[in-house]
Formats: sequence, C-alpha cells, structure tokens
Amino acid sequence: MDRLSKVKPFIVMDVLRDASKYKDTIHFEIGEPDTEPPPKVWEYIEKAVKEKLNYYTEALGLIELREKIAKFYWDKYRVDISPSRIALTVGTSGAFLVAYLILLNSGDRLALTDPSYPCYKNFSYLLNIEPVFIPIDKSTNYQLTVDKLKDYKDIKALQITSPSNPIGNVYSGEVLKKLVEYCEENSIYFISDEIYHGLVYDGKEHTALEFSDKSIVINGFSKYFSMPGFRLGWIILPEELIRKAEIVLQNVFISPPTLSQYGALGAFDYKYLDKIKNLYKERREFLYRELSEIFDIDAKPEGAFYIWANIEKYSDNSFKFSKEILENIHVAITPGVDFGSNNTDKYIRFAYTRNIEHLREGVNRLKEYLLRK
Ligand SMILES: Cc1ncc(COP(=O)(O)O)c(C=O)c1O
Repeated sequence: MDRLSKVKPFIVMDVLRDASKYKDTIHFEIGEPDTEPPPKVWEYIEKAVKEKLNYYTEALGLIELREKIAKFYWDKYRVDISPSRIALTVGTSGAFLVAYLILLNSGDRLALTDPSYPCYKNFSYLLNIEPVFIPIDKSTNYQLTVDKLKDYKDIKALQITSPSNPIGNVYSGEVLKKLVEYCEENSIYFISDEIYHGLVYDGKEHTALEFSDKSIVINGFSKYFSMPGFRLGWIILPEELIRKAEIVLQNVFISPPTLSQYGALGAFDYKYLDKIKNLYKERREFLYRELSEIFDIDAKPEGAFYIWANIEKYSDNSFKFSKEILENIHVAITPGVDFGSNNTDKYIRFAYTRNIEHLREGVNRLKEYLLRK
C-alpha cells in the first residue's frame, strides 16, 4: 500500500499558508511562541559561531546538555535521572519517530486520545503502526482514565500529552499515576509528551517519571523555552532501550543540530522562564474571558497556550467555519478536525502566542462578525 495514502495534511500548516495571503491577518492558528529564548541562549550561540563549532556531536547529543537536562528533572520534580538515559533529538518530533521505531513494529497498536496532536497518528501511518483512537471529553476534564483504556485490547504503547494540545488540560497526579501503573502491569509502553511542561497556570504538572522509571518521556525546547526554530527535543528512556535509540539516531540524523545544542546550554534560566510563563498566563486570562462571551468553552485551559472552543452556536463544520472566518475577517484559527474525529467538527482551537493587542483585535473582529450574524 502507498505509505502516504492515510497521512493527512497538518491542517494548521495549511491555514498558516492561506493566512499569509492577507497583510492584516490575526493569528490564532499556530502554537509557536512569539517570546524570546532566555538571553544566555543567544550568547552561547554567538560564542559557538565565533569558535566555528561546525561538527557533528555524538548521536545522543552533547553530554553537557544531557547533564543539564538531568538536573532540570531534579530541580523541577526531584526525580533522579542519569544523563545516560537522555537522548537529544531533532525537535520532539524527532523523539516520536525514535520512540515509535524502537518500541513498535509494523502492525502494532498505539493508543492515542481523540482529540490529540495530529502528527502522532500520521507518524503511525508512515511507520505502518495502527493508531487506536480513544475518545476523551469534558466528563473527565479531557483526561484518559484507566477505566476507558481497559476497553481497548492488544495495545502495545499509549501516548498521552499533558498539558495537552489542543485543549490545554493538565492530568492530575492521581490519574497519571493510575495510567502509568496500569500500563506497567499490562506491559504497555507509556509515552508521555511533556512538551508543554513549565507552561502550567493552575495546579502543578507531574512528569510520568515520578511514577515509574519505565515511563518514556518526551520534551523539548520549542514551547516553554521559546526556541521552536532550534529544532531540539529530548527523550528519556529506560537504560535498556537507550542503545536502540542511539542506533536509530546515528542512522537517521547522525547528530542533533550542533549550534542549537550549544545555545540550549543557556536555556535553563528559571527566573526568566517564570516571567515568560506569567506572560502566557495573562494572555490566557484575557482570551478565555473574551472568548467565553462568544463561544462555549467546556474546559478552562490550565496549561499550554490553547483554548478549545465549541462553535455549535454558529456551525457544525469547523473546517468550513475556519475558512469562512479567515476569508471574511482575516482571523486565522485551527479547525478542530485537525485533531481527530471525536466531535471535532464542533470545535476550533485558538492559540495565544501573540501579544494582547493582537489578541484583542482578533476578538473584536470575531465579536463584530459573529454577534451580528
Ligand atoms: C503536543 C505537541 N508535541 C510536539 C510538538 C512538536 O514540537 P517540536 O517543535 O519540538 O517538534 C508540538 C508542536 O506544536 C505539540 O503541540
């Protein structure tokens, strides 16, 4: 079968392309931080450029950076991780590829929530893995629970995201612990996408590593650290899997981007990162309040930088609705259908990755257009 036949476009990237047709577009579509990385990142990059550090690093990445990441787990969660269990990857996107390649064979079943981040399923299709979609909704605050997972058989790996894209909900420690334990008891690999950790505004996020050393954790520099263009992520694996990851990484990527790794050595500036988090928190408060006047929002986001809004008052086709909004008032939003098929035609996703003035202009245009309909 043609490998690409089931792979769908990453719709948000299509929206971004279409949005660029208009000079005055308001951007709610893409989840790319507009904030600056911690200042030392640029300093370290400049130093690396001056020193012409233009060589491959080892396939798992610079040991100094892996040590800093290990320290991050101790500082933030009091979890003790050996740097030898950490591999740096080309974005977290590269980490999914590694995880799926080393854990899953052709035909194996990977459980994903519906809705969830679109690329997981498309990676699965590319690798001939079978994605199994488990619907989640507001009844569990968009958390997958063990009760639901139990209905699905022959699952080889489960992937969850917390805080999530597209909803912004955060798994409670209790739900996460139960999931991790269930997976361990039933020989299911537990993959935790923690890329939005750090951007949590209510409560506290937990890493799956707090509950089991067997958890496979994926994170990266694109969101909390505001470094999307550096294309740098990481994966933490149980010791016995790291060699497999290394072999894949040597062959597929040779090494993670060298200059980016040197820059990332300056990324762990918690004081600065806290300021950035508070900025996104302010934006969340603003946008949540304003959008609640126009749409029904069934889960106030606790983290990440998204709002998942119900559009049933206006339409039951999120794709057409987003297109109409873009064409008429030049406001770019992502249709829910990008994230799955569980009721997603009734939802759209807003990203608050622009300043409040920009968000305000978008809200004003939406109010004027929708409330006079
Ligand atoms: C849940 C989630 N995981 C992974 C990624 C990919 O991030 P990266 O830039 O690290 O490849 C994104 C990007 O939006 C995301 O939302």
